[in-house]
Amino acid sequence: EQKHYSIAIDGPAGAGKSTIAKLVAKELQFIYVDTGAMYRAIGLLAVKEGIDSNEEELLGAAVKKADISLKYEDSRQQIYLNGENVTDDIRTEEAGKMASAVAKAKAVREKMVDIQKGIAESSDVIMDGRDIGTVVLPFADLKVYLTADAKVRAERRFKELTEKGISCNIEEIEKDIIARDYQDMNRAVSPLKKAEDAVALDCSSMTIEEVAASIIQLFQKAVS
Ligand code: CDP
Ligand code: CDP
Repeated sequence: EQKHYSIAIDGPAGAGKSTIAKLVAKELQFIYVDTGAMYRAIGLLAVKEGIDSNEEELLGAAVKKADISLKYEDSRQQIYLNGENVTDDIRTEEAGKMASAVAKAKAVREKMVDIQKGIAESSDVIMDGRDIGTVVLPFADLKVYLTADAKVRAERRFKELTEKGISCNIEEIEKDIIARDYQDMNRAVSPLKKAEDAVALDCSSMTIEEVAASIIQLFQKAVS
């Protein structure tokens, strides 16, 4: 069997994982897998089916039946929920909160992890999320734990939303970020934590390009 390369990027909300992973993927010609999108799609499923995120059994049954698939168009990830392209629908702050709520469920995680491992078996990937280095790709060639101060993350999100013409409150964003991190770090199943063998990168005062360049360098060193 052909060996495929893999890079795992984990870290809290708004650390820069997706932006940086996309850059690295382009440079190395890897597939970028946004695993957060999968939990967001399950959040959407729960909303559509009127299932409370605490109803683990109902949620588990709904997820088992659901068809979640990733497709790549012009190397951009598209996510489908039961045949419908939900790539844009999952991008709201509300969907992020729902994602974090449904992501606690064991049945949800098991199915998502299976799909993610399957993708990594057939392609060179850079995957970002919360449990990639610890659970999904324990043998990744490189693991990065990307962080930035909550204040900096809130400022960046605020700027991003404001530029899109979405009105928002920076204190509110920071509060949401801290609450979501707490929930992700303190759940029983696959909590967010740095894998022992992950390289910690604090990008509070680094540009996206600087972080991407250092990840590429770390990867090249790891596989040389
Ligand atoms: O994927 P994740 O939630 O970790 O973060 P992101 O959506 O990639 O990044 C959040 C925002 O921070 C984006 O607007 C990035 O462009 C910005 N960012 C930045 O300006 N400098 C960095 N070093 C990292 C992220
Ligand atoms: O972009 P942002 O960092 O705000 O979030 P995301 O990566 O889209 O993930 C949304 C939520 O899904 C997170 O807050 C986690 O609760 C959950 N998630 C997870 O549990 N495991 C992953 N591998 C990825 C996301």
